[in-house]
Amino acid sequence: MKYEIAVVVGSLRRESLNRRLADALVQLAPSDFILTQVSIADLPLYNQDDDDHPSAAVKKLKAALAAAQGLLFVTPEYNRSIPGVLKNALDHASRPYGQNAWAGKPAGVLGVSVGAIGTALAQQHLRGMLAYLDVPTLGQPEAYIHHKEGLFDASGKLGDQSSKFLRGWMEVYVDWVKNHQDRDPSAAEGGPAKG
Ligand SMILES: Cc1cc2nc3c(=O)[nH]c(=O)nc-3n(C[C@H](O)[C@H](O)[C@H](O)COP(=O)(O)O)c2cc1C
Repeated sequence: MKYEIAVVVGSLRRESLNRRLADALVQLAPSDFILTQVSIADLPLYNQDDDDHPSAAVKKLKAALAAAQGLLFVTPEYNRSIPGVLKNALDHASRPYGQNAWAGKPAGVLGVSVGAIGTALAQQHLRGMLAYLDVPTLGQPEAYIHHKEGLFDASGKLGDQSSKFLRGWMEVYVDWVKNHQDRDPSAAEGGPAKG
């Protein structure tokens, strides 16, 4: 069996460190895990009036999530939370009511920032939102990555130490995603608020 993993990068920046990290994770994944970045750059600002006629970009995002067995969020921290573009994507794919495309997909959460706490607060906020969206998140190991000398080498590849840490992270994530495949999200009671 192949496992499709939808990778959501929370930065639109051309030289994004988080996208570079997401690219590096692709190299660390086993051959039965296909990691593909989903596009959130072309999503309009979420407006509930559009729920009945979603744009092509929204449909494309939701289709990619529907086809995925797992999720990987790689995000910067903006002002001690997640970037607005990531929140916008979370909102889009959570609606219309009853059609939450994130539900039940096991997710890994990582992030790199230039700040010393390495996206810890952004990840904490993201985990809270994901819990509401019925997305189970891998608790350990945590991956709060502080961008400093040696994280990436001159060619943009992961340095030795970071590569070793993330290889270990990937091994745990892979086992955990496989263990979640039998879960049926429709069995859960309740769900995101109506209206
Ligand atoms: C609007 C804005 C807010 C930021 N707030 C934080 C912050 O709260 N914590 C932090 O560690 N870094 C913060 N940064 C710095 C980011 O960590 C840094 O720009 C990082 O490179 C962004 O990720 P990216 O390279 O993937 O785009 C902020 C940057 C911007 C542009």
